This record gives sequence, C-alpha cells and structure tokens, in this order.
Amino acid sequence: MRGRFITLEGVEGSGKTTNLEYLCETLKEKNVSFIKTREPGGTELAEAIREAMLAKWQEEITGLTEVLLVFAAREQHLKNVIRPNLERGTWVVCDRFTDATFAYQGEARGVDTEIIERLEQWVQVDLYPDLTFFLDLPPEESESRIAGREKDRMESENRDFFQKVRSGYIRRAKGHKRYCILDASRPLEEVVSDLRHQLLNFVQENS
Ligand code: TMP
Repeated sequence: MRGRFITLEGVEGSGKTTNLEYLCETLKEKNVSFIKTREPGGTELAEAIREAMLAKWQEEITGLTEVLLVFAAREQHLKNVIRPNLERGTWVVCDRFTDATFAYQGEARGVDTEIIERLEQWVQVDLYPDLTFFLDLPPEESESRIAGREKDRMESENRDFFQKVRSGYIRRAKGHKRYCILDASRPLEEVVSDLRHQLLNFVQENS
C-alpha cells in the first residue's frame, strides 16, 4: 500500500518545529515507518534552492521568481525523495508543501493563483497530501514570538504580509477536507495533545 503523505504548515512562530517533533514521536510510537523532510529542501539541489530563496539579496525578488524556485525544488524533492518513499509504503512527513506557495506567493505576494495551480498540476500530477496540519496564530502574536530572532528574507516581511499569509492558509483550509486547523495561540501542551489526537485517528483509519 502506498505510504501516507502528511504535511505541516504554520505561520512564523507558531511552534511548527516542536509540533513536528511530537508528530514524529507519535508515528514512532505507532510503529509507522516514515521519513521526515521539508520544503523548500529535502534534496541536495532543493536545499541549495532553499538557501537562495531565503537569502537577502540586493536586487528585487519577484513573487513569480519565488514560485519558480519553490516548484523547481519541489520537482527534485518529489522525484528523488517523496514519490519513491510513498511507493515503497513509507509515510512522508513534510514540513511545508504547496499550501505554503498558495499562502506566501499567491495570497501574500499576489501571484495569480492560476499560475500556481497549473504548476501544481504539472509538477505533482496526482500527488497531494493526505493530511495537513495548519498551526494558526494571529500575526501580532507571531511577531512577538519571533522578536529577537535572527530573521531570513521571508521572516523579515511586515505584519500585513503575515496577515495575508494567514488568510491564504485559512482560505485553502476551507476548500480541502484533508486540513486540520490547530489554534496555536493555546498553551503548547494543548496544541500538541490536539495534534496527537487527530493524528492517532488518522493512523487508525489508514493502517
Ligand atoms: P520555515 O518552514 O523553516 O519557516 O522556512 C521556510 C520559508 O519558506 C517560510 O518563510 C515559508 C517559505 N515558503 C514559501 O514562501 N513558499 C513555499 O512554497 C514554501 C514551501 C515555503
């Protein structure tokens, strides 16, 4: 049986890294064979693209350039890591995927959604996540949580940008049943326990 494809999305400072650790711990506990990976990234070239994407450049980087970069990375990642693992029955847990492109480049940078949809179809063909967790947090709280951190090019954007990112994710969530929205403004133990509960249900339904 093909492995299951789980993605984790969240605004900056939403506790994505910690929740990802708990997610993996829960799968281990249930003896699910899985790999953990991330986007942009997950292969040698895709990680190099990630560095270019997040670096601060003197020249202007357009939203369309970002879309093309993340989809080039995604093609490598799908071909060399995601598909082979799913095909051999291994589950794939991915820190961000195409929903991030719709939220960051589509909604926040204003790239035409049709372009993203076309690339999505072209690159992914019939492959979509089976389950997506979205850690939701208001931009004010997101900002205060990441204050003082060293920021990359995306994290250096303003509150209006992150408001749009959030709306982009919420819009996507409404259109897709695979989405599970977690209110990340709650204490971490509550968020983690919610995630665990949803994940255990999913594992039970899919094994
Ligand atoms: P992070 O997941 O470690 O926070 O870093 C990834 C950054 O890349 C984050 O700012 C979101 C951004 N990103 C996009 O803008 N578009 C994409 O398609 C993906 C996967 C990530």
